[in-house]
Amino acid sequence: MNVEKPLGRTKEPDIAETAPAAPSFPVTRMRRNRRTDWSRRLIRENTLGIDDLIWPVFVRDGENLIEPVASMPGVDRLSCDHIVERVAAAADLGIPVVAIFPFIEPDRKDSVGSVSVDPGNVVCRAIQAIRDAKIDVGIMCDVALDPFTSHGHDGLLNDAGDNILNDETVDVLVRQAILQADAGCDIISPSDMMDGRVGAIRRALDSHGHTDVQIMAYSAKYASAFYGPFRDAVGSASSLGSASKATYQMDPGNGDEALREVALDLAEGADMVMVKPGMPYLDIVRRVRERFGVPTYAYQVSGEYAMIRGAGIAGWIDGDRAMMESLLGFKRAGADGVLTYFAVEAAKRLRDG
Ligand code: PBG
Repeated sequence: MNVEKPLGRTKEPDIAETAPAAPSFPVTRMRRNRRTDWSRRLIRENTLGIDDLIWPVFVRDGENLIEPVASMPGVDRLSCDHIVERVAAAADLGIPVVAIFPFIEPDRKDSVGSVSVDPGNVVCRAIQAIRDAKIDVGIMCDVALDPFTSHGHDGLLNDAGDNILNDETVDVLVRQAILQADAGCDIISPSDMMDGRVGAIRRALDSHGHTDVQIMAYSAKYASAFYGPFRDAVGSASSLGSASKATYQMDPGNGDEALREVALDLAEGADMVMVKPGMPYLDIVRRVRERFGVPTYAYQVSGEYAMIRGAGIAGWIDGDRAMMESLLGFKRAGADGVLTYFAVEAAKRLRDG
């Protein structure tokens, strides 16, 4: 027997239950509304706009460096000078927010991710460079240790090397968040999945005079194979090796658990929540949106980008159309916005119509 699990909310009435019985074919012809371009535009339920886009960028030490990321064609790691240039161009297009991710040289990593709490680190310098250039754009920064640790995990490893220490990690994340806010970051975005980190970061931000700094929590972040290319980009793939993040990131089989994660992050003070990855988890985006009605974002992660881009380059799909369709799908699922490596390209297409 197929017993549906209760979702804990009143079920939305089905259209078929509320609408008067509609006459069927041939009186009703669904294709009538689809016949012309103007009519299709008129009846379109969801649209994608430039305001929906958040652009993740990869920054590294050095000057005048543009390093292509092999598994993400079209995406580069940039030194701060180029970051400023490209962020300015993205802001000119109307992209509201950029998200900064660091690549750290292997010899600067250690087991506790010390560089993450160094005020002179490349994330803080990138924030300051964007601020100094007076670019009118929101700056978002990841809070997590994986780009900085020699073992590639998001937190501090226990002595046995088989678990990530929660509360000790939260202490470091709080320091990382304060540094980024001090440097001028607008949105702190904890991506580590430690318990209690949102509340700890909120309290620390407030006590350091950063009451206006927003928090976008990676609330429902799954232990996913789709992060592979990102780990190449930030250089954590070789550190992590075959180790898994399953003791802190969510199990891909779970949906109800995502709602608990979101509820906790909201109770701890998150201003916005995120579901990640995106496309395989659109059901979660929809459920979060319906249950909580708070600003909800989806991350179209590196592996999703690589699939669409790679197939487009190979000529197996129309890459541009697949890009736009995938982004619109997030809106239809209920997302208020999307973190996507396609942000600049999508914005250009939206601008040019
Ligand atoms: C770091 C972090 C990851 C991503 C964003 N922040 C990787 C991970 O958790 O292993 C993935 C982004 C992407 O794949 O595009 N905690």
